[in-house]
Parts: sequence; structure tokens; C-alpha cells
Amino acid sequence: MTNVMTRCRQPFAMKALGLVSAARACGIFIGVGLMTVTEIGAAERLVVYSGRGERFTRPIIEAFEASTGIETLSLVGQSGQLLTRIEEEGERTEADVFLTNYAGHLEQARLRGLLLPYRSQHASQIADIYRGPADAWSGASVRARTIIYNKNLADPAQLQSMMDLADPQWADRLGITVSSNASFIGGLAAMIQQRGFETTRAFLRGIKRNAGDRIYPKHTPLVSAVARGEVAVGLINQYYYYRAVAGNPDLPIGIIYPDQSTHGAPVTIAGLAILRHAKNPAAARKFLDFVLSIQGQKLFAEINYEFPVRRDVPAHPLLPMAGSIRLSPVSQTLQVETIDQAIELIRDVGLQ
Ligand SMILES: [Fe+2]
Repeated sequence: MTNVMTRCRQPFAMKALGLVSAARACGIFIGVGLMTVTEIGAAERLVVYSGRGERFTRPIIEAFEASTGIETLSLVGQSGQLLTRIEEEGERTEADVFLTNYAGHLEQARLRGLLLPYRSQHASQIADIYRGPADAWSGASVRARTIIYNKNLADPAQLQSMMDLADPQWADRLGITVSSNASFIGGLAAMIQQRGFETTRAFLRGIKRNAGDRIYPKHTPLVSAVARGEVAVGLINQYYYYRAVAGNPDLPIGIIYPDQSTHGAPVTIAGLAILRHAKNPAAARKFLDFVLSIQGQKLFAEINYEFPVRRDVPAHPLLPMAGSIRLSPVSQTLQVETIDQAIELIRDVGLQ
């Protein structure tokens, strides 16, 4: 079994292969895995379908294995594709747990009847706004939409609200990611909840005009563009800023959590759920408990400079202390309901 695991893991780590070929490369797991387990009457084994990158899931899985002795396999891919796959596999799926960087995918899974609700012993430590309806899924970390600026090119006093990014003074000086980015869409959905459709439309029009063609494929190149002064300001998830300054504290960049006296910074969450057709629901429950435990939360959040969902676990020391910043109080379930409106707005405004 250990050999199977080891041979299987390597291809999964090779994200470059893409989901389909990674799965094929790991025929042992996908094709023969079940037989192997049945044949040897294996001890508990867990399979996690993860929309979160290998470098972020691996340490969690290793700590879980060390703490429980449950062998754990992960299949890493794009969350949307994994969701489709879970649905197509139906009862045959080997997936016990679905892990994703965006609550929208968890809520979609719930609405399609793919989840097995579970109330973790740790649920009471986690605010309701970060948990799915009827314990269908749970947030694991919180990600804030923030403003990054170049200290030589922008005055933070002029950037206190998300709406400031739409101000004409930032024309040709703003950078954004492509609008298909799940956090971009989630942030807009939050803004619709916070401020309504029309204000969010005005925001989107403004940032489209200000960004022009300064639209970056991902957050990391956007942060680099701000750092080297190609753009003065950018709209990012907070952890990209901390990753950058952890690597090079001398970068001339700063971060602003917007709307601190009003709506709070929009947030999205990474989270997880147990699947209805899980072959090992008991192991899946242990995994969820582990991720939401104090140890798991520290690991899950710190690894990528995210905020823990647990109130009693401090964030990485580089991040502001809990309570010192205001994050949006809108429930993730409610926020997900405005995703379609956010996508409609993006289309309407004609953003790339
Ligand atoms: Fe990200």
C-alpha cells in the first residue's frame, strides 16, 4: 500500500500535467486503487480532491497523517473541474473530501446534493458567516480583498475605500487580475451584498477605465508590477502582499484593508466538505476536525498568510491581529447568491 501511495503521489504533484493526464498518470490510484484497498482490507484511507495547490495541501495532509495514521491521497486540480468530476463519478467516486479556495464551489456542491453534512466538534469556534447551511461545508481560512500600493507612487490616504480605486486619479495607474479569477468574482459578489448592484457597477466601470490594458493573468505578476512601479496600485488578496514582503522586506509596497470605518474589506474563504458518496466518511470527519483544530488552523492559515476561521487562533505574525481590522460581516452563503449578478456585471461592463 505504501508503494502505491508513493508512486501515486508524485504525478499528483505535477500540476503541469493538468488534471486529466495527472489522473491517467496515476492509474494505480484511479484505476486499481479501490481493488487494492479491498484486497488488503486496508486500514482507513482518505482521498481528498483539492482545488488548493499541492504546496499548500501537502503540509496539512502530512500533519494529518502523522496525527491520525490515516493514509491520505490528494488529487489536485481546478476546483470547477473537480466539482464536475465529482458529479460525473457519482457513487463511484473515490473522493471523500472536497477542498477548495472558494466557498462558491462548496455551495454549488451542496446545491447539487453532493455533500454529506457534518458538524465538527470545533464548529462553535467558527463564526456562522464562514459555515455553510446546515453544516454542509465549513470555511477553513479567510482571504481579504485588499489594496496594494507602491510607496513611491501612491499616497495611502487616498486609498481608504474600495471605491477609491474607481477614482479617475488612478487612470492608467491601476492594475487588476483577469475578471475570471474566483477571488475577483467573489470580491464583487461581496460588494454587491455590501453596497448594492448599481454602486458595484460604478466601481467596476471605474476600475476598468483606470486599469485599461493593465490586466494581469494572476495576482503574483500584479504584485510584481506594483513593486517595480509599472502600476501604482492594485487589487489583490492580502496573502500575495505578505508572500512578497516575506521574500523581500525591502520591496516598496504597502497594503491597505479598505473601508475600515464602514463595510470592512470584502472577503472570500477557502473551505472543505465531506462528499455524500465518501467511501471513508469516518476518516473524512477526522480530516475536517483536524483542519478546524487549533493545530490544523495554524497550519492551514499560516502556510499562505491567510486568516484562520477560528476566533481563538492567531494569524501569522506578519498579518494584523484579529480584531484590529474590519472584515466584511456578510455571510459567505449569502455572498455566493450574488455570484451570478457579479458575473453579469463583469459581462455588462465588458471586462476581460
Ligand atoms: Fe490565490
